[in-house]
Parts: sequence; structure tokens; C-alpha cells
Amino acid sequence: MTPIPSNPDGLLAGWKRSTPPNIFVGVTGGIAAYKTCTVVSRLAQAGAHVTVAMTPSATKFVAHLTFQALSGHPVYTTPWEHIESHDPQHISLARSCDLALIAPITMDTLAKLATGRADDVVTLIVSAIDRSTTPVLLAPSMNDVMWHQPATQRNLKTLNEDGFRFVGPGDGWQACRTVGTGRMAEPEEILASISAIVNGSTTA
Ligand SMILES: Cc1cc2nc3c(=O)[nH]c(=O)nc-3n(C[C@H](O)[C@H](O)[C@H](O)COP(=O)(O)O)c2cc1C
Repeated sequence: MTPIPSNPDGLLAGWKRSTPPNIFVGVTGGIAAYKTCTVVSRLAQAGAHVTVAMTPSATKFVAHLTFQALSGHPVYTTPWEHIESHDPQHISLARSCDLALIAPITMDTLAKLATGRADDVVTLIVSAIDRSTTPVLLAPSMNDVMWHQPATQRNLKTLNEDGFRFVGPGDGWQACRTVGTGRMAEPEEILASISAIVNGSTTA
């Protein structure tokens, strides 16, 4: 059997520590969740330790087993599972992660983060991440009208000011059968943003 090459496409070439990066991936309830499967698979192939958490809505779009198989690790779907130690999972995951991504991030979850809510496992874990040391990258995805809502634009401004980083969205075909802004960045673009952060070459 041929051994799996570590970091085959140089995605994490800038990672200088001896242990692989811990990357947290939050998935929320948008159609674009299928694209996050590719992101998780590529990160795992590059040698990252990837932990996925999903909101209840996200599990309507992609089964948690898909992310479990792609990441090779258990997937968190509620705050009340995998509590293996005295350290609640959201705190230990938040402390151990080197980079966090939420892809897709819905209009709803953007609003939650912008107002400091933490009532699902994704927002709970991200709320416990110290952004002064750990970058949190958001990949929004929603219908063009939802994207342009004053509430969404206000929340984006707040999240920018609070130190969250963004990739996308782009313009183009949307699952609601219109063309507009709000299409989640493609996996390659998200991976390039992660790579740039890991290489320390950008503030994304
Ligand atoms: C078929 C379908 C597709 C959806 N796609 C999106 C989407 O792309 N972006 C979005 O913001 N909300 C979308 N929604 C609405 C969210 O799933 C809904 O607001 C939900 O409360 C989000 O919860 P979460 O952010 O906790 O995952 C969609 C809903 C349905 C039924």
C-alpha cells in the first residue's frame, strides 16, 4: 500500500510547527454546505487535524457522517455530546484550534455572532475562541436579497470591526435560481485564504 503523502499540494507549506495545525470547521444551514466537504477533505489530505461542528440546520443539507468520514474525526452537532473530560468540549476545542472557518455561514449565524449569541455548537465554540491569537474566517452564503438586507450589512460591519475575517461571497448563479451576490466562495478560494493565513502572508 502506498503511504499517503503529507501536504501533497503544499496547502499548509507555511506551517512551521512539528504538530499538524488544528483547524476547526463550523458548518451552518445553507445549500453551499456541499462545497465545504471538499474543503474538509483537502485540509485532511494536507495533514491538518480537522474538527467539524454543524448546526442542526446544517445537518439537513449534509449528513454529519460525511464530514466524519472526510475529516477522520467525530463531528459535533450539539453542545451536549463528546464531553469526555472535565474540560467542556467548546472550551477545549476553542483553546486547541489554530484556525477556525465557518463555511457556509448563514444570514442567521452572522446575526448570532454579531450579537454575541451562542445557542448552538458552532457559535458556542467560536464564541470561546480568542481572535487575538486565533484567526476566525467566515465564508458567507445566501441569496442576493438576504445579502443586501440592511441587517446583514450591519452585522458584517460589526463582525469586521470585531476582528473576524472574510472570504467571499462571490457573484453568480445561486441555488434560488437567480444570479446575484451571496454565492459562497469556491473551495479553492477558501483553501487559498487558509493557506495565506497559515503562511502568514495576509490578514485575509
Ligand atoms: C432549502 C433551504 C436553503 C437555505 N439556504 C440558505 C442559505 O444559503 N443561506 C442562508 O443564510 N440561509 C439559508 N437557508 C435558511 C437557513 O437554513 C435558516 O435561516 C436557518 O435558521 C439557519 O440556521 P443556522 O444558521 O443555525 O444553521 C435555507 C433554508 C432552506 C430551507
